[in-house]
Amino acid sequence: MAETKIKTNQIFLITLALTLIPLVHGRYEPTWESIDSRPLPTWYDEAKFGIFIHWGVFSVPSFANEWFWKNWIGFQQQKYIDFMKKNYKPGFKYQDFAPQFQAEMFDPYEWAKLFEDAGAKYVVLTTKHHEGFCNWPTKYSWMWNAGDVGPNRDLVGDLAKAIRNSTDLRFGTYFSHFEWYNPLYNDDLLHLFFTKAYPSQVSLPQLRELVMNYEPDIVWTDGDSGPYWYWKSTEFLAWLYNDSPVKDKVVVNDRWGGTECHHGGYYTCQDHYVPGHLVKHKWENCMTIDKYSWGYRRDAQLEDFENSTSLIHQLVETVSCGGNLLLNIGPTHDGRIMPIFQDRLSDMGKWLKINGQAIYKSKPWRAQQDNMTKNTWYTSQVDEKSTTVYAILLDYPSQTAQNQLIVNLGEPITSPATNVTLVGYPKLLKWSPIGDSGISIIWPDLNFNQVPCKHAWVLRLDGVK
Ligand SMILES: *[C@@H]1O[C@H](CO)[C@@H](O)[C@H](O)[C@H]1NC(C)=O
Ligand SMILES: *[C@@H]1O[C@H](CO)[C@@H](O)[C@H](O)[C@H]1NC(C)=O
Ligand SMILES: *[C@@H]1O[C@H](CO)[C@@H](O)[C@H](O)[C@H]1NC(C)=O
Ligand SMILES: *[C@@H]1O[C@H](CO)[C@@H](O)[C@H](O)[C@H]1NC(C)=O
Repeated sequence: MAETKIKTNQIFLITLALTLIPLVHGRYEPTWESIDSRPLPTWYDEAKFGIFIHWGVFSVPSFANEWFWKNWIGFQQQKYIDFMKKNYKPGFKYQDFAPQFQAEMFDPYEWAKLFEDAGAKYVVLTTKHHEGFCNWPTKYSWMWNAGDVGPNRDLVGDLAKAIRNSTDLRFGTYFSHFEWYNPLYNDDLLHLFFTKAYPSQVSLPQLRELVMNYEPDIVWTDGDSGPYWYWKSTEFLAWLYNDSPVKDKVVVNDRWGGTECHHGGYYTCQDHYVPGHLVKHKWENCMTIDKYSWGYRRDAQLEDFENSTSLIHQLVETVSCGGNLLLNIGPTHDGRIMPIFQDRLSDMGKWLKINGQAIYKSKPWRAQQDNMTKNTWYTSQVDEKSTTVYAILLDYPSQTAQNQLIVNLGEPITSPATNVTLVGYPKLLKWSPIGDSGISIIWPDLNFNQVPCKHAWVLRLDGVK
């Protein structure tokens, strides 16, 4: 009887504490210290692989890259001047491209299917790039958005809906803080950012509108030319984390006004960030299939596109070092994703379908790269009872001993209970220890058609330290 009473009291106190803790500690302050203390929602680290989409008015000229307007008018680069002279009437302005951004072939459900089949777990769409054109019908940019001109359609909303129809995918919004040619921004710049007309009247209202309308899982900002106090980034993030409809699930990056690699959510540092070693703070490698452009361009040659082997290798290295891969494609102005991008995404999907257990929800292991077979990267799956280690070989084995292919790994410490398999192949592999640390594995005798996949091969090691 007495015991039950104590238990009841304890339960009461615990319940009371749980109710009060969020009231006392649960609100984020508009300071980096407070913003940075928020734990990253776990879904993001588990996802590992996302698709980046650069789509906008720049997809109409689809020439050279998505910086078309700036390179042509701002930097007066000759090849853009020549391109315009050759193809357009004198006096044709960049704004005149917008009515041709029709998106008439855009089927967001087809896109969602393609991304899902690629094995991606999230999608990040440019809702507004530096040109300032909004892919949604915003209240804060008159006649320079997809509702008023061009597609006359809510591209962001339509894609968000289709992405969300897939249980596997989450939806993120890329947003450029600044705009090259916004007079309010340029006036603030002249005042060394001590006036704040542009963030108060344009960028912050737009960011909030995006969050309220589309409830993104990721707010991926860029174009943060100006200090974070000008963008009111900490105030925005405190609102996002405390009071917005996405406060529990949303993930943000680190481009909030001179804060790359230092503040915000996960780190992107610079584009194509590949540190090559374990980074403790969660990070993302954003890179693009077309090596020279994020937006679609018609002047790309076959060799300008990353091949599938290289993409899969970058995914493996990135995940092994604690990162996520955000792989970019550029759709055409009419809303198609060209077969070259489809081909690369489909190869990622085929590989992940077999080897996904080494990627999704994995954790970096104590070693990233093996010290005997160098082009081999490690990941691991950890549960309460055991750790499974994955050694991902980027080169097909070529070393032989007694007429058999072998793989020597220097890092794993074996025990008699150690089991080794090649993922996608049903039998246990034979192995022997090398000294105190290391394992020599006999590769199965496979003919060309029996090899489970192309590009990279995964050894699953159970019972190693
Ligand atoms: C939405 O998802 C369901 C379940 O996966 C699928 O059957 C349906 O075709 C999808 N809707 C569209 C319009 O593709
Ligand atoms: C794939 O791309 C990588 C990196 O660009 C290159 O080193 C490699 O030779 C290419 N492989 C093939 C088969 O073209
Ligand atoms: C590889 O690293 C392990 C420690 O993790 C060490 O014991 C072993 O000697 C190293 N092997 C080589 C070949 O450097
Ligand atoms: C290795 O496989 C054997 C036979 O299937 C099993 O009994 C043993 O538990 C496995 N060892 C580990 C470490 O999983």
